[in-house]
Amino acid sequence: MTTLTLSSHDVAVPGTPRHSAAAMLLHWGSAAVLVSAFGLGLLLDDWPKGTERDTAMMVHYSLGTVVLALVTIRLLRRLVMPAHAPAEAGVTARIAGLMHWALYAVMVGLPLAGVFDRWARGRRLAVFGDIVVPAPFPIPGGKLWKEAHEILAWSLVALVVVHTAAALWHHFVLRDGVLRRMLPGRPV
Ligand code: HEM
Ligand code: HEM
Repeated sequence: MTTLTLSSHDVAVPGTPRHSAAAMLLHWGSAAVLVSAFGLGLLLDDWPKGTERDTAMMVHYSLGTVVLALVTIRLLRRLVMPAHAPAEAGVTARIAGLMHWALYAVMVGLPLAGVFDRWARGRRLAVFGDIVVPAPFPIPGGKLWKEAHEILAWSLVALVVVHTAAALWHHFVLRDGVLRRMLPGRPV
């Protein structure tokens, strides 16, 4: 892991190294896939029925599956590797930690609610072309999963807005290098 590179006007957070290249790739890759899945999800609502919509749904489910794979890798990394040094101390560190865990929880719960929605309503779930994933057992709950999926999608938006605002606050107001440690940079 490389250490944080700071220009003369930045205030260093003592002992906070840059995130690893793998962590950055997983973070920004997940963000890009989530934004695409969200945008396509919104479009699905009014899309006229037909083969084009079926393809768009398949792509939406495939993006959701990629989200699940990426978040699984991230959580496994968190289990086997020591947590990255917090950028804060005290209560703010706890709030930042809670925010990150809430983001992880939604990244797991949101796609799963979508999958359960398909299964609970006895609908076909095809991903990456035509790989059909059948329900392993009967899923109760009917349309409730669709509601859960929608609520979780908007909860993700709310969490990401606060998370992004916090990152920008660190960068432009506190000028403490927290955003820069999640960005690739020049070696010292
Ligand atoms: C494998 C994972 C996923 C499955 C199976 C799935 C399934 C679905 C289904 C069945 C719908 C309703 C489409 C309709 O009939 O109108 C939907 C809508 C939607 N999905 Fe997903 N989804 C998944 C992942 C995601 C992810 C990761 C996001 C966001 C990052 C997302 C965001 C949305 C949104 C915003 C809508 C529109 C909500 C609404 O107004 O009903 N979905 N999804
Ligand atoms: C869908 C969008 C996003 C999601 C789901 C997300 C999620 C997360 C999560 C779970 C972490 C915890 C640490 C880790 O994974 O390594 C994190 C860290 C971080 N995120 Fe995001 N993020 C998103 C977008 C953004 C954006 C747009 C920015 C900046 C404008 C940003 C800036 C950061 C920074 C700077 C950290 C590191 C904080 C630290 O070092 O303590 N994120 N993000």
